Amino acid sequence: MDKVVVTGGLGFIGSHTVVELQNEGFEVVIIDDLSNSTLETLDRITSITGKKPQFEELDLKNKSKVEAFFKTHSDVKGVIHFAASKAVGESVEKPLLYYENNITTLVYLLKTIGQLESSNFIFSSSCTVYGQADELPITENAPVKKAESPYGNTKQIGEEIIKDTCHVDADFNAISLRYFNPIGAHPSAKIGELPIGVPQNLVPFITQTAIGLRDQLSVFGDDYPTDDGTCIRDYIHVVDLAKAHVVALQRLLVKRNTTNCETFNLGTGTGSSVLEVIHAFERVSGEKLNYEIAQRRAGDIVSAYADTTKANEVLGWKAKSTLDDAMRSAWKWEQFIRKKI
Ligand code: WQD
Repeated sequence: MDKVVVTGGLGFIGSHTVVELQNEGFEVVIIDDLSNSTLETLDRITSITGKKPQFEELDLKNKSKVEAFFKTHSDVKGVIHFAASKAVGESVEKPLLYYENNITTLVYLLKTIGQLESSNFIFSSSCTVYGQADELPITENAPVKKAESPYGNTKQIGEEIIKDTCHVDADFNAISLRYFNPIGAHPSAKIGELPIGVPQNLVPFITQTAIGLRDQLSVFGDDYPTDDGTCIRDYIHVVDLAKAHVVALQRLLVKRNTTNCETFNLGTGTGSSVLEVIHAFERVSGEKLNYEIAQRRAGDIVSAYADTTKANEVLGWKAKSTLDDAMRSAWKWEQFIRKKI
């Protein structure tokens, strides 16, 4: 059974990926510093798969502990790296926290993994690297634009660090996955998105408004040059996203890739506006959502959705869930976590 280390494995996308890795027969070791997750998620993963992943509470900023960890797990076949700070707004207020937590830790991880027999690495990147793309849908060849936030910059820098590492070490095999907008939850409703404090992202704000935790959703602008005036994004079900990580890891393990450094967009290929997401929620939940049209949010781009050809043809992966499926799972999770079901 191949052993895989998942950093940030108790987080939103990480926990869903651990479930899919276990379903595929991998032995999973989770590293997490619990700064933005809870240990309860470990039990929830176990209750879904029937297998408890090994867990190590570890801050990746602690270089000596990272080295000690991989000495113990020198038989690891691959590392999937989710652990990072990811709040766009917070990154603007605390840039050095983001550069330390997202870049320094990546360097320590790569230096340590480079000493192992198998150096297969999957990096959690983001469509944020494209900024407002000139052409839609967005392909992997779209130019990477000046980041709109230190968070986005850490993803761009991270990808460059990985590319440079692959360039000097032919045995280092890496794939960067550029997520569009991950939403939804595992169909069991035992794991899902659990933002700390007021949600920054649209979908958790919708479900928290519907469950009564928030008074009203503000739609940040309806005067954009889109059909209904609201921004467009490519909302991908988190389980589809998790499955893409398994496929990418399998590609690295059998070294099917011609180059040792690849990048893939992970989206559905379909753009949905904010109002379309709200209507999808109302359709699947039967709830009327309380929202208002508010001012635009600084830094928002008008439209982003993926050209998924490369992931479909090269990875052999395609998102299967619809927006309705994702919104249904997000609502079921919100109700579960607030003990309404
Ligand atoms: C989506 C749309 C908002 C909240 C961010 C990060 C990106 C990735 C996903 C990590 C926008 C509108 C939102 C609200 C609203 N994260 N909105 N009212 O900004 O596309 O992407 O999260 O990788 O890197 O940048 O996602 O969900 O914040 O916003 O109207 O209360 O919903 O204006 O148009 P975003 P989002």
